[in-house]
Amino acid sequence: MGIEKVGIVGAGQMGSGIAHVFALAGYDVVLQDIEEFVLTRAMESIRANMDRQVKRGKVSEADRDAALGRIRITLDLREVGPTDLVVEAASERETIKQAIFEDLGPHLRPHTILTSNTSSISITRLASRTDRPEKFMGLHFMNPVPVMQLVELIRGIATDEETFRMLEGVVERLGKTSATSEDFPAFIVNRILMPMINEAVYTLYEGVGNVRSIDRAMKLGTNHPMGPLELADFIGLDTCLAIMNVLHDGLADTKYRPCPLLTKYVEAGWLGRKTGRGFYDYGGDEPVPTR
Ligand code: CAA
Repeated sequence: MGIEKVGIVGAGQMGSGIAHVFALAGYDVVLQDIEEFVLTRAMESIRANMDRQVKRGKVSEADRDAALGRIRITLDLREVGPTDLVVEAASERETIKQAIFEDLGPHLRPHTILTSNTSSISITRLASRTDRPEKFMGLHFMNPVPVMQLVELIRGIATDEETFRMLEGVVERLGKTSATSEDFPAFIVNRILMPMINEAVYTLYEGVGNVRSIDRAMKLGTNHPMGPLELADFIGLDTCLAIMNVLHDGLADTKYRPCPLLTKYVEAGWLGRKTGRGFYDYGGDEPVPTR
């Protein structure tokens, strides 16, 4: 059976970006969240981002309108069940993800493939708590989803070949490129990216450089589109810390210990762009370093 109808759980930054690209690729999308205002905000941002693509000549107005018409929003998780593919993009907490898959279980079709957009949690463990570990995979999008080319494909230990091939096909239809990772903590991108960001925070913590110097050095010195601290604010400092903790716990190596300064920012509620403050303050016209 092919994949035509896709259920997306969680309408935050990632879930809305994922809904955006599936709808533009012609899939029917059911986008679910537990908060009404999150769904409203998601539709506003999808529309604004599609408008941006129309303005740049990347998407026609007719395709944008058709794609927007293919997205249905709901507060009811049960409506995500009768789909061909589920993409879970809720908060990066294992208990939340587990509860979603548990609640979804009775409403799924026998052929429905389950995926999680987790950036670091074990796919094998999430899969083992469902009734279909052979039809379960990691489908990890990068932020901002409409722009970033890569999707990581992560097989759990029980994932069957047919599920893997189907998802390879889905990524291709989305116009994106996949890289396959084994199911180890944080997979490929975050295994490499997060220690770099964490090291940038240590560089700040130890006074080797200030915020502007660190970001400028990496942007202009290594041709990264954003400096590591700017990127950390973009991803969310809570997410960065959560991923460092998964690496630290999962690989039991002190080289992954989160920088105390990163922990402190998260404790302060300075989570980056989404809260208006992180390594930079986003309250004015231009971001200004907070230390
Ligand atoms: N939706 C649609 N289009 C968007 C968009 C969005 N949300 N955000 C940006 N764009 C488009 C713009 O319209 C623009 O299009 P054109 O090329 O046609 O002009 C293009 O993207 C570039 O955008 P801007 O000119 O506004 O800004 P920029 O040149 O500074 O690029 C950026 C912005 C693409 C975000 C760039 O800074 C970048 O690539 N940053 C690094 C992002 C990154 O590393 N992401 C991965 C994070 S790790 C992750 O996601 C994994 C995890 O689990 C944590």
